[in-house]
Amino acid sequence: MPCPYDCLMNYDGDHWTFDCEPTLTDSQVVEFCREGHLLLRGVVPDEINRRTCDYLESKVKMNPSWIPEGMTNEDLERIRTTHAPSTILLEDWFVDHVLLNAPVSGAIRSLLGRDVGLPVLVSDHRCECPQEAQRWHHDADHVFGPELNFVEVFYFPQDTPIELGPSEMAPSTHIRNSLDNPPQSGVLSDGPAGTVAIHHQSILHRRSRSTAEGTRHMLKYSYWPTVPPQRDWVLEPRFNPHSADYGGHNLARYVAHIYAWLSGKPEGVNLIGGQGWPSRNVNDIAPRYGFEAREGYLPAWRSKSPDGYA
Ligand SMILES: [Fe+2]
Repeated sequence: MPCPYDCLMNYDGDHWTFDCEPTLTDSQVVEFCREGHLLLRGVVPDEINRRTCDYLESKVKMNPSWIPEGMTNEDLERIRTTHAPSTILLEDWFVDHVLLNAPVSGAIRSLLGRDVGLPVLVSDHRCECPQEAQRWHHDADHVFGPELNFVEVFYFPQDTPIELGPSEMAPSTHIRNSLDNPPQSGVLSDGPAGTVAIHHQSILHRRSRSTAEGTRHMLKYSYWPTVPPQRDWVLEPRFNPHSADYGGHNLARYVAHIYAWLSGKPEGVNLIGGQGWPSRNVNDIAPRYGFEAREGYLPAWRSKSPDGYA
């Protein structure tokens, strides 16, 4: 299989990081901050998807490119058959075509900056279908806050139509506890084999109901920043953070705060309330008051959050 990297991919196996050109624009970064997820359908090649399923079902031999310190081959064989088969991270083909997949890595690099830290753990959310839908939930140890301290990914290595129970996410629920009022339905991550859902780990989600017969694998792992955030994604000449679409009432303030944090300017958020920035309406006849106000309030991220963090 040809090298999947564009010529600007810089993979550092020693430091377990990569760098590449960012691909998301200002508007797409705001959209990620607002919606909390981004779906890339069918981006991993079929041969790799098949090899991933075979690996997870122990139909192919392991071929780790390195052995983690303190582990033995026996450890790796054991780990491979668990629900957290992180040994797949040691396979060159998985690194090259899944972790460093061009559309995925470009988006991750946009959100997390240079020299992105690669995953150290993989979970296989394997499901024998058909199954009823899971309950809506925020994953364990989530944090509600303006910081994007890592980005989580779901990778579906087999065709995952609606009938096979793809993950379902409730947009804009990554900013506060949403269990009291879960939606009737969300956005499904259905798609052909090789579909990758990039999302904020705090987002409300569930495995959706499946009606077909078959095994559904879903690999979950996270990428980590190693540098302070800055606005070094694809800049749009006409993008204006003063008039960007941060969402509606009781949402925009949080989304604007995330965007400001990602831009390296969290101090630029001082909320004055009411019709002040970051609220907006298409009928505004002039920019909203309060943008870059020197005094004001921050969003109450910790208010009513039973997440165990002060
Ligand atoms: Fe979950």
